[in-house]
This record gives sequence, C-alpha cells and structure tokens, in this order.
Amino acid sequence: MIGVLVSGTGTNLQALLDAGLPVIAVASNKRGAPALARVAGIPTEAFELDDYADRAERDRAMAVWLKGQGVELVVLAGYMHLLTAAFLDRFPDAIVNVHPSLLPDFPGAHAVEDQLAAGVTESGATVHLVDQGVDSGPILAQERVPVHEDDTPETLHDRIKQIEHELLPRIVGELCAR
Ligand code: GRF
Repeated sequence: MIGVLVSGTGTNLQALLDAGLPVIAVASNKRGAPALARVAGIPTEAFELDDYADRAERDRAMAVWLKGQGVELVVLAGYMHLLTAAFLDRFPDAIVNVHPSLLPDFPGAHAVEDQLAAGVTESGATVHLVDQGVDSGPILAQERVPVHEDDTPETLHDRIKQIEHELLPRIVGELCAR
C-alpha cells in the first residue's frame, strides 16, 4: 500500500497511477500543488508548514495520517522538503525518492541546473531509499541519459523525466512484490 508525497507537477505520481500500482493516499506540503489535481478517488491531504508549530510536528501529523490510511511504502515523487526523524522513524527502510541526476553526483534541489553548469555530457535518474541526508540514502537503481550541447534546464529535465517515469514505477513495483 503506497502513499505518495508531492510538491509540484506530479508527472511521476501520474506514472505510478498509470502503472496500476496501489497508491492509496497522496500528501503534499503545498495545498495548491498541481499534482493533487491528478488524483481522483484517492484520499489527499495538504500539510503546510505554516499550519504547524515546527517541521517535526508537521512531519509527525503527515506520517500519522499516512499510517491511518494504511500506507506501508512512501514514495517521494517531487517532494521538495527534507523529512525529519518524526517522519523517517515511522517508515523505516520504506521511503523511496526519485532524483534527476546520477547520485551521489549533484544532490539537492537544483540538480538539473547544476549539471548543465558543470558541463556534464551524461545525466540520468536515480531511485534511492531516503535517509536524513539530502538525496543520500542507498541507491536502488539508476538510468543514464545523454546531455545535448543545446540543452536548457527544461529540455534536459524533460529527457530525465521520461526515464524517471519508467524507472520509478518499475522499482516501486519490485518493492511491492517483496
Ligand atoms: C523529478 O524530476 C524528480 O526527480 C524530482 O522532482 C521532479 C518532480 O517532477 N525529485 P514531477 O512533479 O513528478 O513532474
């Protein structure tokens, strides 16, 4: 039973839904996240930081809500906040993230721009388990894509996302089958 955390456009969430994976709850740190509009017939909830005393309290509420829905595996699909121990400790070894670089290279929120600025000729996508660091947990799978000379952040990110949309559902499906 999968819970997905989103902050943005939600194309990876869409890929999980299209793959027929058992997504039973979707949470976001942003009430207006476009990703939430992709979901029909599945419980969604927004957990905005401003509504809580601090990040730990927000993360605790989000984890408790997901647990209450029956979630066993959490997938971060473009979730742009770091998770605190209040969340991580409630889903040990059961949180997966997708990131638009070949980790451990280029972690962080600006991975695509950082890769272009560094002049790399190859990029890719990584699916990894989440720990308390920034995109630092054990790597489960990676796929490579070429970087073109005339790439902009948008064209490169689009190429990486095509890979993510195949890689993430495949790895999540494998985890569900375990
Ligand atoms: C993806 O590139 C993912 O790797 C990164 O954030 C982006 C989310 O895109 N963590 P989307 O919201 O799934 O379209």
